[in-house]
Amino acid sequence: MPAHRQVRQLELVSDVAVEISAVRAVDDLLWEIVRQIQTKLGYYYVHLATIDSHKRAAVCRAGWDHHGPRPDLVGWSQHVRDHGLIGWVSWTGEPLLVPDVRKDARYYFDERFPETRSELTVPIKRGEEVVGVLDAQAREVGAFDNGDLMVLQTLARQVSVALTNADLFERLTASRAELENKARVLDNFAEMSAAAQEDERRRIALDLHDGIVQLLVGARFEVEALRTTESIVSPEVLRRLEGVSRILNECTADIRRVVFDLYPQELTRFGLVTALEHFVTTLRRLFKLRCRMSTAGEAVRLPQDRELAAFRFTQEALSNASRHANDARVEVSLLFSEGELIITVADSGPGFDMAAVAGIEGFGLQSMRRNAARANGRIEIYATPGAGTVVTLTIPTHGYKS
Ligand SMILES: Nc1ncnc2c1ncn2[C@@H]1O[C@H](COP(=O)(O)OP(=O)(O)O)[C@@H](O)[C@H]1O
Ligand SMILES: [Mg+2]
Repeated sequence: MPAHRQVRQLELVSDVAVEISAVRAVDDLLWEIVRQIQTKLGYYYVHLATIDSHKRAAVCRAGWDHHGPRPDLVGWSQHVRDHGLIGWVSWTGEPLLVPDVRKDARYYFDERFPETRSELTVPIKRGEEVVGVLDAQAREVGAFDNGDLMVLQTLARQVSVALTNADLFERLTASRAELENKARVLDNFAEMSAAAQEDERRRIALDLHDGIVQLLVGARFEVEALRTTESIVSPEVLRRLEGVSRILNECTADIRRVVFDLYPQELTRFGLVTALEHFVTTLRRLFKLRCRMSTAGEAVRLPQDRELAAFRFTQEALSNASRHANDARVEVSLLFSEGELIITVADSGPGFDMAAVAGIEGFGLQSMRRNAARANGRIEIYATPGAGTVVTLTIPTHGYKS
């Protein structure tokens, strides 16, 4: 074998090794390999095919002839087993060096390359399985020697590694996409069940309000009527009726509070500011929370679902303040400015370590994030151990009238 030819073969192998180690798309690599073989060794045609998933055909992935790249041949397939030398090599997994194709019965004349006289085909294998073929054709009889065979086999092994890596990468990407998809489905599900829960709460609140509350009010009127008809009741009965009236009053107040917790009716009728004022008053009275609320700017109404989400967000932030910073002062402020509403809940309580709760957030913080998203808003939490907590929600209000 002429020395300069051996040098070119060795060069080729080392150049391709460098190509393979550089991270790139597998198709680019396949093209680079056929280009290098054709241009360095000067063959008539070089191509690389991979076996399809049904293991029936070898499908061309990259081809390079004496004029340059042949993208038009990509996708062209040859039957495994009975279609020419490619078919034979794909079937047997053995390399094949044919010095004169006209004398080999397995050769299948290809009118696109009528001048082919000799051909060298090697399998690309993963373990025992043939996953592709690398094929070179020459216009001269006896153009290939053992050196060429070794070069092509070496390159085929490297291609096999590259194909395996690409395959793994593809599977990894697919499973990541699948996981992301599942996460989205779960998110949607959480969103749907939150919406269903709101509907259910509203229904129960309405039932209570229109049912029990009205009955209690009616009963109280009856008692009052009896009480004022002094002529027919004794002082003892009168005293007792007073007691019953007080109990009925308390019942009504209790149930109204439950109704409000379930669903703030004021929200629909009077909007966020009124509903939150009511909630803050309740916290002050029932939980002795030192809480103040202020509003600035010109209040606008938002679509109902956004107001409800903003309300739930603030309710949650205030519940946290009342639960974790009960001795502290709490300020709620609503700032309506050009195109946005900023709701801030700030307390001077113990604060907390944000890093410590990251990833293990309780339902409260999670629901705040979900409601912020439902209000199409942006949530920010500033907490420092020993220095209080500030939570803000910024909601766009463009396009809504005051
Ligand atoms: N205003 C606050 N002041 C102090 N700590 C808070 C405050 N808000 C939240 N935290 C801390 O963050 C944690 C997570 O809050 P959350 O998700 O609402 O869960 P939960 O209130 O049920 O514990 C709380 O357990 C608490 O340690
Ligand atoms: Mg909480």
